[in-house]
Amino acid sequence: MLDIAKLSACYEESLILQDVSLTIHNGQVACLIGRNGVGKTTLLKSIMGLVKTPSGSISLEGAEIIKMPTYRRALLGIGYVPQGRDIFPQLSVQENLLLGLERNKGKRLDESVFDLFPVLKTMLKKKGGTLSGGQQQQLAIARALVSKPQLLLLDEPTEGIQPSIIQEIARVIKALKGRGDISLLIVEQYIDFVMEVADYCYAMDKGRIVMQGKTGDLDLHHIQEQIAI
Ligand SMILES: Nc1ncnc2c1ncn2[C@@H]1O[C@H](COP(=O)(O)OP(=O)(O)OP(=O)(O)O)[C@@H](O)[C@H]1O
Ligand SMILES: [Mg+2]
Repeated sequence: MLDIAKLSACYEESLILQDVSLTIHNGQVACLIGRNGVGKTTLLKSIMGLVKTPSGSISLEGAEIIKMPTYRRALLGIGYVPQGRDIFPQLSVQENLLLGLERNKGKRLDESVFDLFPVLKTMLKKKGGTLSGGQQQQLAIARALVSKPQLLLLDEPTEGIQPSIIQEIARVIKALKGRGDISLLIVEQYIDFVMEVADYCYAMDKGRIVMQGKTGDLDLHHIQEQIAI
């Protein structure tokens, strides 16, 4: 379980997040929505230890991690797929996936990742940079998954991606949810995708959580209009 309480975050002098509290139970998918520049990415970076968090608490399975360096958070099992397609374009698909194994040195690649992303198995020798944008996003998610994270953070996984691959990504997220051993926090602005995959939603505005609830209880399109996503 991820439990964030009264978190603040800043870049240099500018305070971006204020009093952010959020909980994700194991096996749950939570989505964070909000318009551009409100602090969604900053929240994911705070969880990874990539920005300053002067106050508040971030606990994973009951252990306080707010003072831990990023690599220790990754070792504890937090996977992060940043916004954009963060793969190594000059390395092959296989090499990109093997980099995901850093946390489990000496282990072999668990082939079950190809059950989730069959397309990647057909392109193992291809350079990452030659894949389509959607395939690169799938590769980035697959690379995060081979380290067997207990919490996976995805920053706008559908941004700029063709509809057929968005459906593939939704299918993978629902399959992961069915396994029950991983929780996901997904920053997402595409509301139909949110409605399809999320159990619980948070809406952010100006660095604060302004609305939250079970996906089925919220009128997300109305909320989207209200906070002008
Ligand atoms: N490295 C940085 N240094 C200073 N300010 C930053 C930095 N990165 C982001 N910001 C500022 O922090 C605020 C929140 O940015 P953030 O990237 O978290 O927003 P976001 O909700 O993810 O937006 P988007 O939907 O465009 O990705 C913005 O005002 C942005 O200009
Ligand atoms: Mg962002």
